[in-house]
Amino acid sequence: MEGRPVSETRSAQWYGGSDRNGYIHRAWMRRGLPAHAFDGRPHIAIANTASDLTPCNAHLNEVAESVKRGVYEAGGIPLNMPAVSLGETMVRPTAMLWRNMAAMATEELLRANPIDGVVLLGGCDKTIPSLLMAAASVDLPAVVVPGGPMLTGTFRGQPLGCGTDVWRLSEEVRAGTMSQEQFIASESSMIRSRGHCNTMGTASTMGLMAEALGMVLPGLAGTPAADSRLLERSHETGRLAVEMVTEQRRPSDLLTRGSFLNAIVALAATGGSSNAVVHLLAIAGRLGVELTLEDFDHTGSDVPLLVDLQPAGRFLMEDLFRAGGLLAALREVKDLLDPTALTVTGKPLVDFLDGAQAWDREVIRFRDNPVQPQAGIAVLHGNLAPDGAVIKPAAASPHLLQHRGPALVFDSVEDMHGRINDPDLDVDADTVLVLRGCGPKGYPGMPEVANMPLPPKLLEQGVRDMVRICDGRMSGTAYGTVILHVAPEAAAGGPLSLVRTGDMINLDVSARTIDVDVAADEWAARTPNAATVEAFATPRRGWEQLYVQTVQQANTGADLDFLVGSSGNEVSRESH
Ligand code: FES
Repeated sequence: MEGRPVSETRSAQWYGGSDRNGYIHRAWMRRGLPAHAFDGRPHIAIANTASDLTPCNAHLNEVAESVKRGVYEAGGIPLNMPAVSLGETMVRPTAMLWRNMAAMATEELLRANPIDGVVLLGGCDKTIPSLLMAAASVDLPAVVVPGGPMLTGTFRGQPLGCGTDVWRLSEEVRAGTMSQEQFIASESSMIRSRGHCNTMGTASTMGLMAEALGMVLPGLAGTPAADSRLLERSHETGRLAVEMVTEQRRPSDLLTRGSFLNAIVALAATGGSSNAVVHLLAIAGRLGVELTLEDFDHTGSDVPLLVDLQPAGRFLMEDLFRAGGLLAALREVKDLLDPTALTVTGKPLVDFLDGAQAWDREVIRFRDNPVQPQAGIAVLHGNLAPDGAVIKPAAASPHLLQHRGPALVFDSVEDMHGRINDPDLDVDADTVLVLRGCGPKGYPGMPEVANMPLPPKLLEQGVRDMVRICDGRMSGTAYGTVILHVAPEAAAGGPLSLVRTGDMINLDVSARTIDVDVAADEWAARTPNAATVEAFATPRRGWEQLYVQTVQQANTGADLDFLVGSSGNEVSRESH
């Protein structure tokens, strides 16, 4: 190795030189790699969230093999790097509790290891957000391969949407139109193939958001997991990762304010999950990009819904891919996009839109014939949510968007489940259901419970929606007049902790306000409800303790306060 030219690559700080340290680093990595693997060529980590306990991501090892071939072909060295994986339906109490842990672990692994760039393999809800948060903080060249949705399931001749249709089938069992045996038989029909949920839930949304942000090979996001084109584009992504290292194309070059605003437009146009709000805010926070909750309202609330997908609509992700995918939908709103926001290719996102064609106008609508004219998030403020709360007006009942009604307060998810079915519950269609203790600190981990079930006695009367307020989140597959992400949350001393059953609550979405109508002197004399205080005082240990002590509120992305900001990729000193 004597006389070998000094390489510019980061990994050369491990592998370069002829001293003992260079020897140790090379020798331990040899295991079949030839000497020229350490001649300064890019070493590309594949941050791989494949796990048998994250079934949505279980196929990512095969995707990683395709990425590897692409990296080798382009002259790089691919290195599989298992990353913390979170199965949305599996981990308890909630995958959101672990998102920041996954991001922190990946960030530290990327910084600690001899790598020059990274390909991020994610899929299930929290995996792409955590990988992007990590990559944003480390700021090494990075590109995402979204693992893709599962194929459309079919049962008894009908398509089955993953997640959304579980509710429909279980209702059929309750109504006696489906046997218990048939219900169980539908399980493997619903989960027809590898891949993540195939509605426009959080996983689908975040794959598309990653592409709208410029972090995915344009046109790849939404490719079904079982489609051979996913492997073809993964191979291409491996090649691209090497190019990105050569060009030093980094997340900080791509994840600009313009690219986040593009993602907000894409979120509205595709009817994406409200969970994207906290994830995008958290990713922006890692780079110091100025992005606020208000940006979602200002930029997205007037954008038309162009994609007719479940849970709001009819079709599934396989249909969106067949119909032309994200790029075809974005072509309809090209004028709303920042033309300077770059992608991993080095070219602007808008450069890929003119060639994107929509093949099925039932799935991807023309802009002048949208599914809904205004599809984005509205951000509310008021004495109930001084730091903001969000609502998806397009998912709400129009007659409830301006509403005054008495609060019925639940102190926890358990309290709500314990009382909501009570036939003697004092509730009517005007009641505003309030659920607190579900914020980042309070639960902890901000579960998807904001869309509380309606009391059966009202369902029997034909009531199908009520105003609901919560400091938690809502599943990407849920609908209703739900005000969520209330900040500050009850457990952080937010006003939600002071509300009592019977207080009158005023909602005016057009004025963007949410207020409780209690006399100022009475309000000032109130103290937080005992249940919230008690829950927050519960002794904890390990990650949960760290999380509760340092997690921020939903309006800034619910990241840990000490993880906000970019930490960079400087190579640490070593001990031998
Ligand atoms: Fe993994 Fe829905 S459970 S995406």
